[in-house]
Amino acid sequence: MGELKHVPVCSIEDLQSGQRKLVKVDGTEIAIFNLKGQLYAVRNKCPHQGVSMVYGSIDGTMLPSDPHTYDYGRHNEILRCPLHGWGFDLKTGESLF
Ligand code: FES
Repeated sequence: MGELKHVPVCSIEDLQSGQRKLVKVDGTEIAIFNLKGQLYAVRNKCPHQGVSMVYGSIDGTMLPSDPHTYDYGRHNEILRCPLHGWGFDLKTGESLF
């Protein structure tokens, strides 16, 4: 894994809560999301077919639960690919499955 690098991409006034922005850093597109004042950045390329993640929806997911029970949770924590819906944890970048 590469060294962590801090690169200014825009002012906070340009990315209000609920907004998203696409920036380019060293030739790589990065999608930045402001969720209630918390900023998240992900590579703007779905690992499946390379679709632009900046257009993805942000929602929650079904949680582990007992049989015949359906529990929805983690609202506003999951970024979904706009093409096939692959979900990623916005806080960690990890795939849901
Ligand atoms: S292109 Fe993103 S899940 Fe298929």
